[in-house]
Amino acid sequence: MADEPVSQNIVRAEGRVSGSDRAQNFGHESKTVWFTGLSGSGKSTLAFAVEEALIERGVAAYVLDGDNIRFGLNRDLGFAPEDRTENIRRIGEVCRLFQDAGLIVLTAFVSPYRADRDAVRALHPDGAFCEVFVDTPLEVCEARDVKGLYAKARAGEIPEFTGISAPYEPPEEPEIRVDTSRPLETCVADILDTLGVGTS
Ligand code: ADX
Repeated sequence: MADEPVSQNIVRAEGRVSGSDRAQNFGHESKTVWFTGLSGSGKSTLAFAVEEALIERGVAAYVLDGDNIRFGLNRDLGFAPEDRTENIRRIGEVCRLFQDAGLIVLTAFVSPYRADRDAVRALHPDGAFCEVFVDTPLEVCEARDVKGLYAKARAGEIPEFTGISAPYEPPEEPEIRVDTSRPLETCVADILDTLGVGTS
């Protein structure tokens, strides 16, 4: 995918509402909170739990979930490396729009490639991208096998399965590392703390 738009003769339009106007309107700052980790690591569970906790605190929050997005916006993409990169590029742009609109947007994508995640970070203003590494070991994800996909992947029925026959590049310096052997509520409280939203 080219970095420059294919379209010629396009000019950026400027709105009249600033980021701080939007923050004042919502009563909080906006951010992209990017959960990354293996399939079955707990990304969606965590993201939805944090979303619920934020909404309870009056924060405008919304989850973009990998499997769900692949039913719609990204229904034309598979799991080849270039498709995963395009998946993350599109979602990154969507996150940047949500973040610009004043929300806390949370994502749950495997997002196996470091360069793809870093490209999403680079779209955001400083401090508006928070990478959350859901650090569940492969053995644990595979033992849980909630969707039965690891068994299929081991049987050779799913090609290019992350962790089995396709790579996962863990973040080197995530803002948050989650140890999912701890209770869900503890993990959620830690994430809220780091986001500066508090737990009371
Ligand atoms: S990503 O690699 O492009 O970021 P994404 O998060 O959208 O992946 O989708 C991952 C989900 O698709 C997994 O949780 C799993 O349910 C399903 N899936 C199906 N095939 C694969 C595969 N080959 N590798 C990883 N996940 C897969």
